[in-house]
Amino acid sequence: MSERFTKAAARNIFYGGSIFFFIVFIGLTAQTHYYIRTSSTDEATLTDSVQRGKHVWEKNACINCHTLLGEGAYFAPELGNVWVRYGGREDPTGAREALTAWMHSQPSGIEGRRQMPDFHLTDQEVNDLIDFLEFTSRVKTQGWPPKTSG
Ligand code: HEC
Repeated sequence: MSERFTKAAARNIFYGGSIFFFIVFIGLTAQTHYYIRTSSTDEATLTDSVQRGKHVWEKNACINCHTLLGEGAYFAPELGNVWVRYGGREDPTGAREALTAWMHSQPSGIEGRRQMPDFHLTDQEVNDLIDFLEFTSRVKTQGWPPKTSG
């Protein structure tokens, strides 16, 4: 190694590099935050019921079996787009009814099929939950998941 590469130079590269990449990291974090708030989510439609629905989702740990926008467990279907899968874009009332019926008819008891528990949710909780899933389906995920089927 060249004699000109002194301890001081090594230290400066270390600190300079650390500071440089820390600044890049802060910049990217700010950009991500800005993008989430202005482009990827529709903040105006983030209603109280959507927030309550998120709490129902968390309290009952749906993510222990399901994924939401790709995050979670892979035991049960992706639910970030379940609203679209149930035809919510064309027929919101029909999709709401179908999802409500689904929540109340579990476990299906069909042999050989994976089972989902009955969470004994109130009508209000189911409605909030569906509002949350509907909101989630409108998050711009840059095409994730690639197929409506999951
Ligand atoms: C113990 C695991 C488990 C948990 C926890 C769970 N689910 Fe499920 N869920 C499943 C399974 C398994 C299926 C698929 C069942 C089938 O196809 O017969 C399913 C299917 C669904 C479907 C239908 C998906 C589709 O594409 O048809 C919805 C909606 C759903 N779950 C909502 C929820 C919600 C909301 C919660 C939390 C309150 C939840 N699940 C918690 C296991 C679970």
